[in-house]
Amino acid sequence: MTEEPQTLILVGFMGAGKTTVGREIARQHQSQFLDLDLAIEQKAGMTIPEIFKSEGEAHFRQLEEAVVKESVTFPGVVATGGGVVENEKNRQTLKDSDAVVIYLHGNLEGTIGRLLADGQRPLLQKESTISFFKRWQKRDPLYQEVADYVVETVGKTPARIAAEIVALF
Ligand code: S3P
Repeated sequence: MTEEPQTLILVGFMGAGKTTVGREIARQHQSQFLDLDLAIEQKAGMTIPEIFKSEGEAHFRQLEEAVVKESVTFPGVVATGGGVVENEKNRQTLKDSDAVVIYLHGNLEGTIGRLLADGQRPLLQKESTISFFKRWQKRDPLYQEVADYVVETVGKTPARIAAEIVALF
């Protein structure tokens, strides 16, 4: 990287690999890494499935809005939760920031496969594949809206995706 951005923010659907790729970029660059889902869990003192269950999704989204605001000046790599772009305020925060925002763009089939294998996402457990697909279609343009770069992830390892992102700068 010639002129390294201060803050690199990864957005994309759940299961796109934001956390894995983010950690890999941070490792390659010896920079810090921040996972917003983890930051929310630490703030709440509960796991995300527990927050959804006991406090509801609206409460989760409030916590999320607060951590997104804090993240835009984080000195390093940030992995966001897949739903951040549904909140207009978060989109504005991302667009107004000096952070470089990267959309990790995958395909529906691979994403669903990964999510089912991991079993941790409360939203997927509640939804049919059709409504999941609708969520996908709704969010895709929103990720595009906030992104400075779109990186295709299909058929690539996290290390390769990270290397492609690093090569952008
Ligand atoms: C969500 C994605 C999850 C997590 C929460 C809601 C979403 O993050 O924030 O379960 O609305 O897509 P990942 O994208 O890291 O799975």
